[in-house]
Amino acid sequence: MAKVIDIIDKPDLDKARSRVRQEIPVVRDEIVVPERLREYAFGRRYFIRTYGCQANVRDEEHMRGYLELAGFTSVQEESLADLVIINTCAIRENAEDKVFGELGLLKTLKTQKPDMIIAVAGCMVQQTHIVDKITQVYRHVDLMFGTHNIHHLLELLDEVYEKRVRIVNVPSKYGEIIENMPTKRTHRYKAFVNIMYGCDKFCTYCIVPYTRGKERSRHLPDIIQECKQLVDEGYQEITLVGQNVNSYGKDFKDGTDFAQLLQAVAETGIPRLRFMTSHPWDFTDAMIDTIAKYDNIMKHIHLPFQAGDDMVLRLMARRYTVASYTDLVRRMRERIPNLTLTTDIIVGFPNETEEQFQGTLALVKEIAFDACYTFIYSPRKGTPAFKMMDNVTLEEKQDRFYRLKEVVDAIAKERAEVMVGGIYPVLVDGISKRKDDMLSAYTENAKLVHFKGDASLTGKIVYVRIQESNVYTLFGERVDDGARA
Ligand code: SAH
Ligand code: SF4
Ligand code: F3S
Repeated sequence: MAKVIDIIDKPDLDKARSRVRQEIPVVRDEIVVPERLREYAFGRRYFIRTYGCQANVRDEEHMRGYLELAGFTSVQEESLADLVIINTCAIRENAEDKVFGELGLLKTLKTQKPDMIIAVAGCMVQQTHIVDKITQVYRHVDLMFGTHNIHHLLELLDEVYEKRVRIVNVPSKYGEIIENMPTKRTHRYKAFVNIMYGCDKFCTYCIVPYTRGKERSRHLPDIIQECKQLVDEGYQEITLVGQNVNSYGKDFKDGTDFAQLLQAVAETGIPRLRFMTSHPWDFTDAMIDTIAKYDNIMKHIHLPFQAGDDMVLRLMARRYTVASYTDLVRRMRERIPNLTLTTDIIVGFPNETEEQFQGTLALVKEIAFDACYTFIYSPRKGTPAFKMMDNVTLEEKQDRFYRLKEVVDAIAKERAEVMVGGIYPVLVDGISKRKDDMLSAYTENAKLVHFKGDASLTGKIVYVRIQESNVYTLFGERVDDGARA
C-alpha cells in the first residue's frame, strides 16, 4: 500500500525568482546525530548517484559526511544499499530523463527490498512540476529534499524512518551560507572548494538561479581555512567552484573580489589551483594579472560564450557582445602566455538563424578553443526563454549541433597535437580505467594523459613526454624529473 505523504515544504517559482534584498545568514550549527537514527544506521549501507556540475559533486561529499557520521557505510552498487540518494541536475531535459529512467529501475529493486529508502535530492526537485510528478508517479520515493537543506539530512532521514511516511521538504530559499558541514571527499589529492553559491545572472535559458537561490559568497577567512587544511592534508589541487567565480565578493560591498581571493589561496602553497566557471562579463584585468603572476594558478580558463551572435547573446541576457568577448580573450592572451581556453556553447536557441549559427562557428575558429562543451538548447519551464516562440526545427538544431561538433573537434585536434613531443608536468589520478598497467593523469591545461606506471605515483606530480594525441586523450611516457625542458 502506498504510504501517506507529508509535505513539509514545496518549491515555489516566485519565491525562487525573488531577489529582494535580505541579509545572508551564515549558519555554523553544531552537528547533532539523532540517537534513534544512529541505531538505525548501524550496519546499514548507502549509495549516492550524482548528476550535474561541481556544485552537486560537492553536495554529495557533504551528504556522505553526514551519513557516515551517523554510522551508515558506503557501497558501490544500488542493489546492495539500504538507502539510495539520487542527487539530480535540471540543466537540460536529457539530464532529467536519466533520473526518471533510474527511478523506474529503482521501483523493481524496492519491490524486492521493501525496506529500502529512496531519496531524491538536488536541482530537479527544486521545481514544483517535478515534485508533483514524483509524488504522483514514483510512489516508491520516500524522501525529497533540495539544495537548501542538505544540512538537515539526518533529521529528515530520522523522520522518514520513524514515521514511515513519505516526506517532501524542498524549500525555495533566498539562501544561506552553511559552514561546518561534515564532508567525505571523493578524491584524496584533488578537492573542490565552494567559494560561492547560487546565481543572479538569470540567463534567459537557465534554471540554475531558480534551483540554487541568490548569488552569495562565502567569507574569505572560511575559504582560506578550508584550503589551508587541504594543503596540510597533502592535497595537490584545489578547484574553486561557483557558477560565476568572477562575481566573488561583490555582495560584501567592501572591495573584496575574486582577484584577492585567488591571491590568498595561491599563497597557501597548494601546488595546483584551478577555478570554474568564469563569466565573461565580470572578468577584470586584476584577475588576469593575478592568474599570470602565480605559477601555481593553472593557466586554463573555462569561459563559456554560449553564442557567437550579438542578437542571440542579448536574448540570452548574457551581458557581453562578440566583440567584448574577443577583446577579453585578447587581453588574457597578452598577459598569460600559453593560456588554454575552453568554453560552453548552446546551439538552437529559439529562432536562431543559420547566419547567427555561422557566427558561433566563426568564433570557435577565431579563438581556437582546446575544448568546447556543446549543447542543444533545452527549454526549461519557468525561464523567460521557455515562453519564446521558436521557428527552428529539432532536425535543424541537431544538424547544427553535428556541424559545430566537427569544427570543434578539428580545432581541438590541432591544439592537442601541438603538445606532442613536449614534456609536461602531470598530476597522477591513479590507475587508468582501461588498462591496469597504465596511469591516468592531468596536465596543467587539464588534458587527460595516459602513461605506463604503477599506483605508487598516485597523487604525485611527475613529468611525461607526450608521444601521441587522440584529440581529447594524450599518451606519453614518464621521463626523469631532471630531463624536463
Ligand atoms: N554558470 C555557468 C554554467 C552553468 S550550466 C556559466 O554561466 O557559464 C553549464 C552550461 O550548460 C552552460 O554554460 C550552458 O552552456 C548550458 N546550459 C544551461 N542551460 C541550458 C539549457 N536550457 N539548454 C541547453 N544548455 C544549457
Ligand atoms: Fe545559468 Fe547564466 Fe547563471 Fe551560468 S550565469 S548559472 S548560465 S544563469
Ligand atoms: Fe545541474 Fe544544478 Fe549544477 S541544474 S548544472 S546540478 S547547479
